[in-house]
Amino acid sequence: MKTFHLHGKSCCSWFLLGLLALVASLASGAGIHFHEFVIQARPVRRLCKTQNIVTVNGQFPGPTVEARNGDYIIIRVVNAAQYNISIHWHGLRMMRNPWADGPSYVTQCPIQPGGSYTYRFRIRDQEGTLWWHAHTGFLRATAYGAFIIYPRLGSSYPFSMPKQEYPILLGEWFDRDLVLLKRQADFTGLPPNTSVAFTINGQPGDLYRCSRQETVRVRVDAGDTIMLRIISSALNQELFFSIANHTMTVVGTDAAYTKPFRTKLLVIGPGQTFNVLVTADQPPGLYYMAAHAYESARNAPFDNTTTTAILEYRSTKLTNQNRPRSPILPALPPFNDTPTATAFTAGIKGLTKVKVFNRVDVNLYIIVGLGLINCTNPNSPRCQGPNGTRFTASMNNVSFVLPTTTSLMQAYYEGMRGVFTTDFPPVPPLQFDYTGNVPRGLWTPSPGTKLYKLKYGSKVQIVLQGTSMVTSEEHPMHVHGYHFFVVGSGFGNFNPATDPLKFNLVDPPVRNTIGTPPGGWVAIRFVADNPGIWFVHCHIDSHLNWGLGMALLVENGVGLSQSVKPPPPDLPQC
Ligand code: C2O
Repeated sequence: MKTFHLHGKSCCSWFLLGLLALVASLASGAGIHFHEFVIQARPVRRLCKTQNIVTVNGQFPGPTVEARNGDYIIIRVVNAAQYNISIHWHGLRMMRNPWADGPSYVTQCPIQPGGSYTYRFRIRDQEGTLWWHAHTGFLRATAYGAFIIYPRLGSSYPFSMPKQEYPILLGEWFDRDLVLLKRQADFTGLPPNTSVAFTINGQPGDLYRCSRQETVRVRVDAGDTIMLRIISSALNQELFFSIANHTMTVVGTDAAYTKPFRTKLLVIGPGQTFNVLVTADQPPGLYYMAAHAYESARNAPFDNTTTTAILEYRSTKLTNQNRPRSPILPALPPFNDTPTATAFTAGIKGLTKVKVFNRVDVNLYIIVGLGLINCTNPNSPRCQGPNGTRFTASMNNVSFVLPTTTSLMQAYYEGMRGVFTTDFPPVPPLQFDYTGNVPRGLWTPSPGTKLYKLKYGSKVQIVLQGTSMVTSEEHPMHVHGYHFFVVGSGFGNFNPATDPLKFNLVDPPVRNTIGTPPGGWVAIRFVADNPGIWFVHCHIDSHLNWGLGMALLVENGVGLSQSVKPPPPDLPQC
C-alpha cells in the first residue's frame, strides 16, 4: 500500500492516473491518495487451525484508507485471487459516479481473476468513519478494512481532539471457505452456518482457543481521552459492544457527527460505524472491550461466543507481580435484549446544519422480511428448510435477483433491454397485518429484478416495515450512494396517520445503515440528488443472498452537473 499526500508538492510518475484530479486538487488544496489493492488468498491461522482466506494485500483486516474531506482517491484493485470480486466503499456517496460504488452486478461486473479495475472518486462533505468491503457473495467476511475521513486541513472535530485514535473492526470468523459456505447454503435452502468466533481487528481474543497471544491491545495513558472508530464488518450478526467500567461518548455514526451521547453499550449492525470517545478515568489496569451477539430472531441458531480486546493502561508500572491476572470483563446484555437495543438506537441524535424537509414528493412503504419457498419435492436435499421448504427474503414481495450477464448500471447506461424492469411496487402489493400472525400462504414472494425510478432532486421518504413472516427480526438496511435522516421508528405496523406526527425533523441522526426494529418499522428521508442506480439491501449477507434487496434508479437531472458521469474505460465486462 502506498499513499502519496500531495499538498502542492511536485508530482511523480503515476500522474497519468490522475492528471485531472491532480490539477483540481492543486487548485483546491485537496490531497490525492493512490493505493493498490491486490486481492489474494493467504493462509491465516485462527482458533488452532490454518485456513486460506481472501485478503487485500495479504492483510487481515485489510489496509486502512485515510484521507480528508474533499480529497481524491484512486485505488487500483488487482484480482490475484481465484474468485470474481469487486470492492464497495461503504457509505461514500460517489456523487454522479456509481461506477466507483462497487457492488457486483449492480454498478459493475466483478473483476475477474487476473483482471484489474481502478476506482476513482472524490470525498464530498463527509467526515468520520466508513469502511470498504468486497461486494461479491460472502467474500466480504475476510476482505474488508477501515476508511477514515478526517476534516479538511484547517478545520477540526466538533469536540476536543482525542489523544489517539484506533480503528476497531468487529468481524465474524467462519470455519470454512466463504465460497463453499454460500454454495452450501444455496444448495440446502438453509441459512449458512453461523460463525465460530467474532473478531476485533481480525483477532478472536482471550476467550477462544489458541488466540490469547494475539489478542488486540489498545494502550492508553491514564487520564487521556482516545477515540475508537468502531466498524461492524460482521457478515450476518448484529452485536452488543461494551468496555468494562468505562463509559463511551458517541460523537459520530456512519461518517456524520452526532450530539455527544454517553453510553455503556453499543448496538451495532453489519455495516454501521460509531465514533466513540473513551476517557481512561479508571484505576490503572486491564479492561476488556467485548462484543457478543444481539439476536432478535426467535429460535434462530447464532454464534453465542464473545470476542475481546484489551484496554491497557500504559502509565502504570505493571510488573509481573502486580499485573492483574485477567482483565475485567464488561457485562453485556442478554442476546435477545431488544428493549436495550432499541433504547440505545433511539438515543442517537444528529448534529447537522442541514434542515430536514417537511414536504415529501415520493413516499415509499416497503415491507422487508423473510419467506419460505415451497418445493415440489419436500424431501429433496435442496429443501432442508421448515417442512421441506427453502428460505427466501423480499422487499414488497419481490425477492431480488441480480443479473448475471451484465450489471444494472451498464444495462441502464447502454440502454440494454431485458435486464431489469422499473416496476418495483411503492407499497406492498397486498395489504395485511404485516407484524401479526401472517397466513402461511403469504410467505412466498416472487423473484424479480425490479427497480424504483426517482426523479432527480425529489424529496423521498421510505418507511421500511419489518414483517413477522417466518420470524420477526431486525434488518440493518443499507442504502448505497446516499446517507439519510432517520426520522422515526416504532414497533408494530406503521400508522401513516399518527406516526408521522411524532417524526423527529429537528435533530435526526444521519446514517447509511439503519435497522428495522424486530416487528417494527423505521422511516428515512433523503433528497435524490445523486443520479445512478443504487442498491438498497439488508446488510445481513444471508438475507441479501435470499433476495432482501432492491435498487433505486435516480434519473439524471438537467445538464452535466446533474448527470451520471461516463463510465471509466477500464470498467470490467462480465
Ligand atoms: Cu456495505 Cu451493499 O454494502
